[in-house]
Amino acid sequence: MISQTLRDARRYEDAMAQNITPLERPEFHLSPKVGWMNDPNGFSYYKDKFHLFYQYYPYDSQWGPMHWGHAVSDDLLHWEYLPAAIAPDMPYDYVGCFSGSAITLPDGKQLFMYTSVRKEAQPDGGVRDIQTQSLAVGDGMDYEKDVRNPILTAEDMPENSSPFDFRDPKMWKCEDGTYRCVIVNDRADGTGGRILLYRSEDGFNWEFESVMLSNDGRFGKMWECPDFFALDGRQVLIVSPQFMRAEGLEFHNGNNSIYFTGDYDKETMTYTRGDARQVDYGMDFYAPQTVETTDGRRVMVAWLQSWDNFMTPEDMDWTGLMTLPRELHVEDDSLVQLPVREIENYYTGERSYENVTLENQSAELDGITGRSFDMTVEVKKEDLEGFSILLACDDENYTELYYNRYQELFTVDRTYSGLVRDVICSRSMKVANEKETIKFRIVMDKYTIEVFANDGKQAMTTLIYTDLKSQGIVFSSDGK
Ligand code: FRU
Repeated sequence: MISQTLRDARRYEDAMAQNITPLERPEFHLSPKVGWMNDPNGFSYYKDKFHLFYQYYPYDSQWGPMHWGHAVSDDLLHWEYLPAAIAPDMPYDYVGCFSGSAITLPDGKQLFMYTSVRKEAQPDGGVRDIQTQSLAVGDGMDYEKDVRNPILTAEDMPENSSPFDFRDPKMWKCEDGTYRCVIVNDRADGTGGRILLYRSEDGFNWEFESVMLSNDGRFGKMWECPDFFALDGRQVLIVSPQFMRAEGLEFHNGNNSIYFTGDYDKETMTYTRGDARQVDYGMDFYAPQTVETTDGRRVMVAWLQSWDNFMTPEDMDWTGLMTLPRELHVEDDSLVQLPVREIENYYTGERSYENVTLENQSAELDGITGRSFDMTVEVKKEDLEGFSILLACDDENYTELYYNRYQELFTVDRTYSGLVRDVICSRSMKVANEKETIKFRIVMDKYTIEVFANDGKQAMTTLIYTDLKSQGIVFSSDGK
């Protein structure tokens, strides 16, 4: 049975989406059908298609009571909208259906676990949001919430847990047919997020197993949106901590997405972690979630926005985007990420230039212009001091990518991208190698700039809202 709340949302999104022309949307990144989008949810391969759900408030271009939006794709780049999958329509989730994940059950149905949020009066007279986990089962279009919801509550957490911060379940199926799930929570005294591990025989009955990892105040406070998977012989844990403090160029203030590579002992279910690193050094990357493709690739997508930087122009009927889906690998205990190879099927009008010499000068290259492209730039370091690439340029606006060869720093700066709010505009990352050249791959899709340096060893994602008429690309060099 589809609730009235969900029916209303579906009717509304269908009607309003007609006002948004394809021209104002990105070409190969997912944006919300209408209204607000944040985290990717339920990223899965089901019934021969990729399904990507997302935190969704159709009625406004601001966060509101969360629904799950829904899109499907054959190749992770061309997305088609399906009707919103779930809505905040129950006494236990009317504040929102927060983030969660999806698995396929043995009977061929798809199962969601999501965070159900309701309000509850507190002994001190206040009212707080209570977070629990709930289930819904569906066929890839319509989903029915489980009558036993919520299925994980404060009673299913270890001692000294906060009922206000318990969210973002990520499930997976084990080789023996049982299921596991990681969920983040905070301690009752607010001293920091931890990863709780749950186990289930059937996907419906879940039991607390262990505290897999505790933050202990080291990486921000509460953690959000965990993901946990084996890759290239290592066990990777990704999590998005809130309220972090900047550390060098590795971590920035506020919400970060970080990863650990480590070892997981399946018998004792313990995780031994290595050092933490940033997943993406840009200004707009949060809450990544991964899926395993049928050909064994681990693919990650994230929300291409930041809680700390709102810059959507007021006249837009939609806000929020997903990053390009990225293929992941672990090399030397570091995450390497590159756009999914399917992007090559979309190339038209290829151009290439070799042995272009710029010596303390700027140049445009014939045919190299526009707002949607996949461009690789390889620069000889020998007599170079630095070089810059200006994107989305016109007489007034540009976003600058700058590489300082001596400091081995790569910086993105959107100060002059046409912003009228004082949001964070610049961020840098260390990009070093032992080679004679340095290589950057830049994928732009109207509003988004995703840079993959050193063959994916570092990534940096940035959102700009420069008018789409600004199409210029200018290359400059300091030195040769
Ligand atoms: C992360 C997050 C999640 C939560 C969701 C709510 O961006 O705060 O922890 O489930 O967004 O929309």
